[in-house]
Amino acid sequence: MKTLTATLTLLASFSLLPAAFSDAPIEAPAGFDNLTNGHLTQAEFDVVRATFDEQEHVEDGLGPVYNAQSCGECHQTTVSGALSQVTVMRAGSFDGTTFRDHPGGSLIHDRAIDAALQERVQLSANVVALRTSLNTLGDGYVEAIADATLEALAAAQPPAVRGQVIRVPVIEAGGALRVARFGWKNQHASLVSFAADAYLNEMGITSPLLPEENTSNGRPVAAFDSVPDPEDSGKDIEAFADFMRATKAPPRDLVLAATPDASAGRMLFGSLGCAQCHTPEIVTAPAGTLVNGGQFVVTAALGNKLIHPYGDFLLHDVGTGDGIVQNGGPGTRNKLRTPPLWGLRTRSRLMHDGLSPTRHDAILRHAGQAAASSQAYRALNPTERRQLLTFLDSL
Ligand code: HEC
Ligand code: HEC
Repeated sequence: MKTLTATLTLLASFSLLPAAFSDAPIEAPAGFDNLTNGHLTQAEFDVVRATFDEQEHVEDGLGPVYNAQSCGECHQTTVSGALSQVTVMRAGSFDGTTFRDHPGGSLIHDRAIDAALQERVQLSANVVALRTSLNTLGDGYVEAIADATLEALAAAQPPAVRGQVIRVPVIEAGGALRVARFGWKNQHASLVSFAADAYLNEMGITSPLLPEENTSNGRPVAAFDSVPDPEDSGKDIEAFADFMRATKAPPRDLVLAATPDASAGRMLFGSLGCAQCHTPEIVTAPAGTLVNGGQFVVTAALGNKLIHPYGDFLLHDVGTGDGIVQNGGPGTRNKLRTPPLWGLRTRSRLMHDGLSPTRHDAILRHAGQAAASSQAYRALNPTERRQLLTFLDSL
């Protein structure tokens, strides 16, 4: 019986069987096309997409310190919700034992609504890091992954590469803990939490979930802020989360993926150990599952879907750690979440800091827990390297 179920699951995952035949997961829709994945109607999706792309101004509550005027400004190539080259800067100090945030918080806002408020990195900072903008496409599926699935992924990894699971507060659930999966440092577990964080920290717009403005390097900004808090009633935060939940997953380049080089490269990706962290397949929790500390029920459009993120959403030390501590505690100072590689072909600057211009450079920077696989990459002959890089270009 077990074997039969396993066979059916296998067959259905290759779409040979109608989904109704078994409970096999269904392939999640993918596309760079500004179309809904079914979580919302297309008309609803168009409305929340416009909110995501809408420019905010001082009279809407923008700033006083901020980084950009709309979510879409940093999440854009090739469609709303995707990634971009835009980086944000974080800073703090480390005395050999303890990391301390830069005065006013580790995020250094690059813009202000008044010159007197411009944040600047102070001399006391000995840790400064850049972070590139991440893809939010397909994040509804990522949010719908059960905690137990991520824990099982970690448990199945060989000890030398095993990722760390952290639990972080879900803001809309009064701080209830959930397995983290979003952000370079796995700082969040829910899209409402990330949206509230981004609205405040990237754009300077307060909401009922995060009602207090940021300071400017620790100095109060109230004298410059004419809009009473919370500046958003909470509706925009919901719209951003709804939008991201309704986006399709980043699609493969199907033409390139069908080439012999890309298929050979996909095999190498497995044999070099890349797939140990860059997980090729994950199945989301069934529709109806209560997640985010009870604040979200996985919908039919998001539940029991097969996704190909090429990431395990776990923290690893691959020797590139940025030294910043966020929600994960001191032990995560030099760890980063394995970035999902879906949509990689739209990224021009690689790694958390955007400082690797080529895929080759990015792989060579892998050390620590990824040392064995970057060593194995170095040992490839030129043909094999080309095959692996062709596979990456198809993602
Ligand atoms: C100034 C550029 C900028 C703006 C504006 C911005 N973001 Fe981001 N976004 C980023 C960066 C940079 C990251 C990665 C940050 C990190 O992990 O440290 C990110 C990460 C995210 C993630 C995590 C994605 C994942 O899969 O891990 C989500 C979700 C997100 N942003 C949503 C939003 C929303 C919603 C808005 C608007 C309220 C927004 N962002 C505005 C730059 C921006
Ligand atoms: C131990 C886990 C692990 C292994 C093994 C691993 N990676 Fe990574 N990979 C990561 C982490 C963590 C990062 C983020 C590092 C950073 O940004 O500084 C990353 C980043 C990347 C990036 C940059 C992605 C982006 O969006 O900028 C690429 C490309 C990549 N890896 C490809 C590979 C390939 C190819 C292999 C095999 C040769 C591999 N990785 C092996 C964990 C791993």
